[in-house]
Amino acid sequence: MSEAVDIQDARTPPVLVREQLQGLKGDELARWRIGPLENRRSAAERGIDLPMPFGWFALCYSDELAVGEVKPLHYFERELVLWRGEDGAAHLLDAYCPHLGAHMGYGGKVDGPHLQCPFHAWRWDGAGRLVQIPYSKSLLPKLQKPDCQRSYPTAEVNGFVWAWYHPDHLEPLHDLQTFAEVGHPDWTPYERHEWIVYGPMQALAENGADSAHFRYVHGVLNNPNYDITFDGHRRTAEVRAKMQTPRGLVDGAIAYGVDGAGQPWTRFSGICETLLVSGVTPVARDVTHLRFAFTQLRSDRDSGVAKAVIKDICKQLDQDKAIWDRQRYIEKPPLCRDDGPIVEFRNFFRQFYAGEQWRQYREAAKARTISR
Ligand code: FES
Ligand SMILES: [Fe+2]
Repeated sequence: MSEAVDIQDARTPPVLVREQLQGLKGDELARWRIGPLENRRSAAERGIDLPMPFGWFALCYSDELAVGEVKPLHYFERELVLWRGEDGAAHLLDAYCPHLGAHMGYGGKVDGPHLQCPFHAWRWDGAGRLVQIPYSKSLLPKLQKPDCQRSYPTAEVNGFVWAWYHPDHLEPLHDLQTFAEVGHPDWTPYERHEWIVYGPMQALAENGADSAHFRYVHGVLNNPNYDITFDGHRRTAEVRAKMQTPRGLVDGAIAYGVDGAGQPWTRFSGICETLLVSGVTPVARDVTHLRFAFTQLRSDRDSGVAKAVIKDICKQLDQDKAIWDRQRYIEKPPLCRDDGPIVEFRNFFRQFYAGEQWRQYREAAKARTISR
């Protein structure tokens, strides 16, 4: 860990964000978070050639998908259609109908548990099988097998609808973690925030391992101390940092973890008990959709600090986004001793890339598992 340096020596930490976000509040700030980016450079210009990671990824909140509703989505560099059948189950398929190519996310209808294409009303089940052609007795046998239309396993936990994405169609390799706080009467309903980040998922995930940026981007008084554990598909850390609050400087503890590539969570304690459940979903190799859902202990929520905690965490994300949106990917960065466990993080994250070229990295990640 690096030595603490007097904050007066720090170079006016969040300069970048002050310039970009000065005066942005309320709706305008919310629009900036998910809006297009001026002078955006292509993935190729920014050296971003990382493949799409596999894992469980959030598609929407459960209450955003009513029974009988059909939604078009674009994630994993694919057009997708999500629906909730009349039996209540959510399903995800590739959107272009194999018959004559209609996009089933626009005008598709739910029929029982199935999805009906808007063009000629062919009906599909959640496993991607053709179940009916309403105007013909012929049912094409080659379309009656699962995955004739590409389907994705789905699950609903923690108030989100999740899908398992794997480029080689492998079944889920691990479970989703569930949190008892979500929906518990002692805890508040989610407060929700979202961002579109113009960067690869790996860059977002790397943030926690990049210990030097906390001071220069977020204005944290000194580099936080933490233990980080890489354990199979799970990464966890305990961070202890002094936090500036309306009550003055408080010793805060932050426990965070990431299950697989796309399910990070964070527990903040010391100021106001807060659980942050995140959904991080790749849109394209250089675009990531990030959702933050906060729940807080109701007994702490009344203090003015509770809202300030959430505001501060979101401000930190704004500060990170300002960097990520313009960042170039450096495959072999020159790192100094105090840059934090960035190399270990990258070796860990590479286990979520499929394909031959990453096999050796996955093996290396297993060998580097550290248990506390
Ligand atoms: S294009 Fe979907 S049924 Fe014809
Ligand atoms: Fe950050």
